[in-house]
Amino acid sequence: MGLYAKYIFPHLLDYLMGQPQISEYRRVALAGARGVTLEIGFGTGRNLPHYPNTVTRLVAIDSENMLRRKVAARIAASPLPVEQKQLDAQGRLPFADGAFDTVVTTLTLCSIGDVMAALAEMRRVLKSDGQFLFFEHGRSDDARVAARQDRFNPLQKIVGAGCNMNRPMDALIRQAGFEIAELERFVMPDAPRVLAEMYRGVAVSQR
Ligand SMILES: C[S@@+](CC[C@H](N)C(=O)[O-])C[C@H]1O[C@@H](n2cnc3c(N)ncnc32)[C@H](O)[C@@H]1O
Repeated sequence: MGLYAKYIFPHLLDYLMGQPQISEYRRVALAGARGVTLEIGFGTGRNLPHYPNTVTRLVAIDSENMLRRKVAARIAASPLPVEQKQLDAQGRLPFADGAFDTVVTTLTLCSIGDVMAALAEMRRVLKSDGQFLFFEHGRSDDARVAARQDRFNPLQKIVGAGCNMNRPMDALIRQAGFEIAELERFVMPDAPRVLAEMYRGVAVSQR
């Protein structure tokens, strides 16, 4: 890991992820979470205040362990029992098939290298009647914006420590064997258009 990714990016990430307008989207995205919940790409714990009280336990995984003291304080302040683990979601997760009622990703599928491997694991560990809740940014349906996203993606991968701006999130989720039960597509205001193409929804395992 380079110096930028290790010392600068975590602070930038925490600042950007803490923007008030994103908070409201988090609240809406997580409203249906319940039972034992797995969050992939926990980051700096910005989702913690937005989980409803229907969640009984949160297992929070991330390939990095950023801003440890700040994140530990957020976990301590949360009424939720949280088990934090440093794990790479691209590999086999140390959880049984169907272990979780809910799986959550927010602004994370853009950053996972082998996103299809991660989605397959998420599907494996989700109960057959469980829900995958997502709030992500990705590829635009507007061809001109998508072309700009393709052009700027190599730069974004450097600045965003592996983040891709041009992934068609709904198509990837379906390709992994999920059925999308609910999908909201919108452009987030006050953000560069190439980074503001949002996907929020609920997916279930295809029968
Ligand atoms: C843009 S941040 C979003 C953080 C958080 N989900 C949020 O909404 O504030 C993306 C997160 O995905 C994590 N990540 C990237 N690749 C991963 C992987 N292979 N396994 C687990 N986490 C990963 C990063 O370390 C980072 O914390």
